[in-house]
Amino acid sequence: MAESLTIDSSQGREVRYRELLPQLQGLTAGEPNTVANLANTAAALKQTFGFFWVGFYLVDKEQLVLGPFQGDIACTRIDYGRGVCGTAWASGETQIVPDVDQFPGHIACSSLSRSEIVVPIKKNGQVIGVLDVDSDIPDDFSKADAIGLETICQWLETILTGELTA
Ligand code: SME
Repeated sequence: MAESLTIDSSQGREVRYRELLPQLQGLTAGEPNTVANLANTAAALKQTFGFFWVGFYLVDKEQLVLGPFQGDIACTRIDYGRGVCGTAWASGETQIVPDVDQFPGHIACSSLSRSEIVVPIKKNGQVIGVLDVDSDIPDDFSKADAIGLETICQWLETILTGELTA
């Protein structure tokens, strides 16, 4: 297992997402544990892009529950359809929020967060969790982030085994 990442930080995000994916695949190869793989994925994204907050919320019955993350402490439970994460769960679609103050029902885990992207993770067509990335910079996420993070989530869907939650 590679224990360091090699990312050309002079490159834009699109290139860095392309560099990151095979390294994530190497980092998690042969490791079946979901918590370990999500934890390293969150850390690798934080390390590569310096995002303010990166983490997973996992579906547990009627709610999303906080999973592995990197960043400040965060709210632990989000209802279906609530906030950006709950909206991504309910719609099954990536949510890009350029200004969190303009998103009705945005859940502010940190007052420093200014923009956000949330990508659903599916298994057999059902949303089983979301990947949430927050930035302290307004309007920090573009189509390139949506494509890069969706590609990572599609790969995660292929490696996640068993139940994500207890
Ligand atoms: N802002 C999210 C809540 C999670 S935190 O950003 C870590 C939301 O509105 O769903």
